Amino acid sequence: MTFDYARYLAAKTTVDDRALNRHVLAELRRLMPAGAPRVLEVGAGLGTMVARLLDWGVAGAGEYILLDADRQLLDSSRRWLSDWAAARGLRSDLLPDGLQLGDLRVRLVHDELGGYLEGAHRAMADVLIANAVLDLVDVPAVLPGLLRLLVPGGVYWFTINYDGETIFEPGHPLDDQVMRAYHRDMDERVRYGRPAGDSRTGRRLFHHLRVAGAPALAAGSSDWVVGAGPDGSYAGDEAYFVGSILSTIQDALGGREDRVGSADLDGWLAVRRRQLAAGELVYIAHQLDFAGRSPG
Ligand SMILES: C[S@@+](CC[C@H](N)C(=O)[O-])C[C@H]1O[C@@H](n2cnc3c(N)ncnc32)[C@H](O)[C@@H]1O
Repeated sequence: MTFDYARYLAAKTTVDDRALNRHVLAELRRLMPAGAPRVLEVGAGLGTMVARLLDWGVAGAGEYILLDADRQLLDSSRRWLSDWAAARGLRSDLLPDGLQLGDLRVRLVHDELGGYLEGAHRAMADVLIANAVLDLVDVPAVLPGLLRLLVPGGVYWFTINYDGETIFEPGHPLDDQVMRAYHRDMDERVRYGRPAGDSRTGRRLFHHLRVAGAPALAAGSSDWVVGAGPDGSYAGDEAYFVGSILSTIQDALGGREDRVGSADLDGWLAVRRRQLAAGELVYIAHQLDFAGRSPG
């Protein structure tokens, strides 16, 4: 990876804040169990979602597990979340396996999702969350086991599922070729020894959720839309976020002469990075959110 992934996830926070579908979020609020629910977030990264849900009054008490395959990110999440809490005047205490945020006990679990689902130490959850994650796994293989982690009547909220459309504006003659190759790379990706992605995860989730016995009760788009303001600057750290997307494309396609020639790719990236530096680049990614209940 040619960029700082923790900084990328932190920079993504404001982009996700705008993108998360409010109709689907309202359904999550309606379905959310009262009291002190046990929440499991898979592929939780830095933990920005638990911070958001505290801010938005969706979570407050109970237990919230952050599960991720990247130990370094989980280590960074303790510091990131306690800094976040300090900035809001929220009481936080570091604990051996996580931290306390006000009345919410946050536990960090280092595991790969497929292995976790096959293992003996799975925790049952009232609420299951996956944000910008299901497009990184083999959904038909993973979804049934994932939904089995929910108690009867439990709730899922699967958000920011990529759905086959990335747009950069202004247009460039090589856009279609680059995006076709990028999508092919997603479709063929293997991580942790397993198939790991589908460039059309979003639209296919309607079917996968129905087949798994947990059809969506609410669905809607959650597109990332990033552009500079009138003064030419991007909000927050969003220029870094878009730069990281460009680096992801570079990492995926560099050396794949059969898909995009290196001179073409370098030229395309140079134009996009110049436009980003000048505040002229608009980036849009189409994604979908879903909420529903456990099977049965
Ligand atoms: C795009 S990031 C999203 C992180 C976080 N949900 C967010 O929106 O900020 C994807 C996260 O999923 C994790 N991940 C990807 N594949 C995984 C797997 N098979 N098992 C567990 N974690 C995984 C990565 O380590 C990464 O932290």
